[in-house]
Amino acid sequence: MNSKAEISEIVLPNDANILGNILGGKVMHLIDIACAIAAFRHCRKPCVTASIDFLDFKHPIKVGELIIIKASLNRAFNSSMEIGARVFSENLYTGEIKHTSSAYLTFVALDEEKKKPVPVDKYIPETEEEIRRWKQAEIRRKHRLAGIQKVSGIR
Ligand SMILES: CC(C)(COP(=O)(O)OP(=O)(O)OC[C@H]1O[C@@H](n2cnc3c(N)ncnc32)[C@H](O)[C@@H]1OP(=O)(O)O)[C@@H](O)C(=O)NCCC(=O)NCCS
Repeated sequence: MNSKAEISEIVLPNDANILGNILGGKVMHLIDIACAIAAFRHCRKPCVTASIDFLDFKHPIKVGELIIIKASLNRAFNSSMEIGARVFSENLYTGEIKHTSSAYLTFVALDEEKKKPVPVDKYIPETEEEIRRWKQAEIRRKHRLAGIQKVSGIR
């Protein structure tokens, strides 16, 4: 099943802070796009970002380096899907690649007309790695939904 996406681009000065490092917001934007493509490819329906879990930045990505986002479906639930994203930098002079961030996003498929959540196809993991990510996604979902409930209770 096609439920992956990879995008890359060269970091340009317009996307950088005064230290010459890519802005966090730009990284989030690219993560959102790559994950949306992976989700759309899985369900073949329009989908929206419902949430993004914890995101940290382990290494800066410099102007002139390549930013690479690899996104793949971890698990499809009912109308929602967890997509995992990994971000890398590539130094185009040396070829050195660094893993700079990871994130988990939840996308929800919507009915094109009513704009209401609709069920998506099941995803059957095959490789050992896919099965591991599929199992972990269920645990994260439980924590995520419990966290949302907790926060909405104190609003
Ligand atoms: C996400 C959205 C469609 C959920 O709508 P809703 O009416 O609350 O839907 P439901 O309560 O029926 O839940 C539908 C699914 O979304 C999941 N979901 C809802 N809110 C969620 C959240 N904050 N994080 C993770 N999953 C969420 C539910 O767990 C459920 O999953 P399941 O069908 O796989 O069991 C709705 O809140 C929305 O449209 N948000 C705006 C999305 C958007 O515009 N994003 C772009 C950035 S602004």
